[in-house]
Amino acid sequence: MKRILAFLILFALIIPLCPVSAVEAAQTDIAISVGADETERNFVWYSLSSQPGSLRLWIDWEPMEYLGAYSSTVAKATDGEYFIHRVTLKNLLPEIDFVYQLVNEDVESPLYRFSTPALGDFSFVFAGDPQLGESKDPTKDREGWALALERISSHEVFRDAAFLLSAGDHVDEKNNEAHFDDLLHHEALTGIPMANVIGNHEAKSEIFSQHFFRPNDSADYGVTKAGGDCYFLFHDVLFFLINSNNKNTEPLWKPCLQSIPIPFGRSSPSTIPCTP
Ligand SMILES: [Fe+2]
Repeated sequence: MKRILAFLILFALIIPLCPVSAVEAAQTDIAISVGADETERNFVWYSLSSQPGSLRLWIDWEPMEYLGAYSSTVAKATDGEYFIHRVTLKNLLPEIDFVYQLVNEDVESPLYRFSTPALGDFSFVFAGDPQLGESKDPTKDREGWALALERISSHEVFRDAAFLLSAGDHVDEKNNEAHFDDLLHHEALTGIPMANVIGNHEAKSEIFSQHFFRPNDSADYGVTKAGGDCYFLFHDVLFFLINSNNKNTEPLWKPCLQSIPIPFGRSSPSTIPCTP
């Protein structure tokens, strides 16, 4: 009996120490978001590995120039199975083609590519309501979205688009991981940064907040389970992505105005506190 007990204790100690298999550590649902400004990109992916992974980065010229490996933060996804890996790349120079690879334990993803646009004028793709799952025909929805992404990533019209601004309703059912898989499981999204507005279909979805790594996601304003208001600066243009699904009637802004005499002949202007 003691021998059986000892075996069970040993078994219980060993199992949690075992890394997940190579297949299980594989990366899935890779998504890139615009960062706080045009020099940043946010990456998120899922893996069954609970250990920090990494993103290896190169400049895509001949030969490729290795820039380094960036360690991921890790959090458990609400599905109870996968782990969310996040990396922010900073100080990216304009007009560069980059190559990246995701690594979890001993599993290396294929090499993927993304580019930064030139300085100055830029364009972006505006789209809305892919709402994967809405037709109740998953194959049809997935293939339609895949076709749209294919056009965005390869058609001449969109060649210089810096990112895809998605105006909400990404999925039909907020807690349906299959709908998020149909949305995100596309090779094209490994190279298209997105800016994602929270739609009413996903506003109450923690899953949305886990699959998208949005810049400056507010914990104070416009907050629902999916996230809050967020914003980013891109080549001197400030984008506000308002989460209008928060029905809080508190005013979002409290303007405060005051009139101060111009301090002719004074050594310093008077200071008057102004508290809204
Ligand atoms: Fe919709």
